Amino acid sequence: MRGYTVKMKAHRIVLLLIFLVVFPSILSAQERRCSICHGKKDFSVKDPSGKTRSLYVNESVLSNSSHGKLACMDCHTDAFEIPHAKKLKKVDCSACHDKRRILEKGPGIDYFQYRESVHAKELKKGNKKAPDCALCHGSHDILSKNDIKSRGYRLNIPDKICGKCHEKALSEYRKSVHGSYTTKGDITPPVCTDCHTEHGIKRTADPTSTIYATNIVEMCVKCHGDYSIMQKYGKKTEEVQTYYESFHGVATKFGEKNIAHCASCHGYHEIRSKEDPLSTINVKNLPVTCGQPKCHPGATANFAKGKVHVNPKSRESGIIFWVAFGFKWLTITVLIVLFAHIFLDFLRKMQEKRKKGI
Ligand code: HEC
Ligand code: HEC
Ligand code: HEC
Ligand code: HEC
Ligand code: HEC
Ligand code: HEC
Ligand code: HEC
Ligand code: HEC
Repeated sequence: MRGYTVKMKAHRIVLLLIFLVVFPSILSAQERRCSICHGKKDFSVKDPSGKTRSLYVNESVLSNSSHGKLACMDCHTDAFEIPHAKKLKKVDCSACHDKRRILEKGPGIDYFQYRESVHAKELKKGNKKAPDCALCHGSHDILSKNDIKSRGYRLNIPDKICGKCHEKALSEYRKSVHGSYTTKGDITPPVCTDCHTEHGIKRTADPTSTIYATNIVEMCVKCHGDYSIMQKYGKKTEEVQTYYESFHGVATKFGEKNIAHCASCHGYHEIRSKEDPLSTINVKNLPVTCGQPKCHPGATANFAKGKVHVNPKSRESGIIFWVAFGFKWLTITVLIVLFAHIFLDFLRKMQEKRKKGI
């Protein structure tokens, strides 16, 4: 009897062990089906052109990525039969990331916004150089933007995403005030996506674009009009206020597209400080900046001598401050004298009336 019980127990233990080994392997069989081939480091095919294309997928990279919990087939949904078709469908990231879908599993993005972007439109036209989701984000090595190694980490966006294709914009940006701060690790100044957005990037000529002439002021003002940001650098938000009060500012408020906005004078990727001899706003270069053919052709050094962001209330504005100051007091004195004159005249008339009445 005793022996039988022991036998039963041993039997159960064996069954349990078998179950513990078999069940997970059934679960991961799906995965291993892929690694039989794609897990080999030298697994590759030859293109029709004769170039070898590696088909090795490093599973540890995938499991350390944001998608570590996903199975191969969560993304490659049409690879269910082995051998699978030679050409598989492109992975549909929006299946999990479209904010509008009920099945959304990951952080949602506005997919409609991406569809309207210049990149999606170019792709649709057949431009193979335009990025789909994976060309910007990667495929098996996608990390959260909070990870310093991620392509999407704020300070990596210029080099690891946009600059890969827009080299000229990147090199100009790196020479700018903004770019030199971000190169040093300061996260406040703008990277490409602050000015262009992430998924809704549009052409310069598109009126709904953030970089369309009449929308640029709003873009710069987001930071340069925000006292809490500028205060950190010991700067004021004066430039924005004075721009709005200027002729240029008033005209843009009425939607005038051919009037100087912030980027007309400062440039956009290569914005430099006024002390920098290469800056568009360096005193020496102002005749060229103001004298652009569509602005004030033939502008001389004298024309450009006047300060642009003038705040008449500030002593630093020199002669303009003193002229404004003088005019203010002149007006006040004239008004006082005028009222005194009217009052004395009134008194006099009253006196005369009284005299006549007697
Ligand atoms: C028997 C080996 C084998 C197995 C198992 C296998 N594949 Fe493949 N896979 C290939 C070969 C060969 C190619 C290259 C096809 C070609 O371009 O000629 C390929 C290509 C691919 C491609 C690229 C297709 C393209 O259009 O460029 C993907 C994605 C892929 N496999 C995913 C998977 C997934 C997911 C699994 C597991 C469910 C899997 N494979 C299992 C052999 C295999
Ligand atoms: C987060 C989604 C995702 C997961 C999970 C995923 N892949 Fe991919 N895979 C992609 C994307 C995106 C591409 C690029 C091609 C495309 O856009 O379809 C790709 C490309 C491939 C390719 C073509 C060669 C290459 O590297 O470009 C192979 C082979 C492949 N995957 C196999 C696998 C295998 C095997 C697994 C599981 C170990 C896996 N994938 C898991 C998204 C994924
Ligand atoms: C099967 C569903 C699924 C598919 C398909 C998928 N993802 Fe994800 N993705 C997720 C989930 C779930 C997370 C969140 C993981 C977490 O927070 O641990 C995620 C996270 C991310 C993140 C990181 C977000 C963050 O900041 O934390 C990015 C970026 C991302 N996915 C992009 C993509 C791209 C690009 C593709 C297509 C190549 C893709 N995903 C395909 C489900 C998916
Ligand atoms: C032009 C490059 C580009 C393209 C194309 C692009 N993205 Fe992004 N995406 C970014 C950048 C930059 C960020 C911000 C940094 C980050 O989160 O990685 C971002 C953020 C994300 C996030 C994280 C959102 C969050 O709240 O954390 C997801 C998810 C995502 N993208 C999915 C997609 C999907 C899906 C597609 C395709 C429909 C796509 N992206 C196309 C550049 C791009
Ligand atoms: C301070 C805001 C700002 C930043 C940062 C910025 N851009 Fe721009 N970008 C603009 C403006 C404004 C325009 C449109 C200028 C015009 O009217 O022609 C523009 C135009 C462009 C264009 C259109 C072609 C051209 O050069 O005129 C591309 C491409 C571009 N930017 C890419 C980038 C990339 C890549 C980065 C990051 C390395 C970046 N931008 C950073 C504001 C910015
Ligand atoms: C895989 C390459 C690639 C990546 C990555 C990429 N772009 Fe582009 N981008 C293109 C192509 C191709 C066009 C269309 C160019 C054309 O037809 O003039 C384009 C167009 C643009 C335009 C419109 C230019 C115009 O003429 O007005 C802007 C702005 C732009 N991209 C900004 C960005 C920003 C910002 C990023 C990063 C978030 C980025 N791009 C990432 C390839 C890329
Ligand atoms: C995301 C916030 C942000 C945006 C958007 C932005 N800037 Fe800046 N900008 C900064 C910061 C931060 C600095 C560095 C602090 C400083 O020196 O004023 C800076 C510096 C500058 C400087 C140099 C100031 C100096 O004293 O040396 C100029 C000029 C400038 N930006 C103009 C612009 C223009 C024009 C735009 C729009 C095309 C713009 N910025 C968009 C944050 C921003
Ligand atoms: C008509 C040309 C013009 C326009 C438009 C313009 N600026 Fe300026 N900006 C200048 C000049 C010239 C200077 C340097 C001399 C000065 O301070 O007047 C300057 C100085 C600045 C400075 C300080 C730079 C430094 O190195 O100290 C900032 C910041 C600035 N502008 C931001 C802006 C913003 C933001 C806008 C849009 C709201 C704008 N500017 C519109 C011409 C312009």
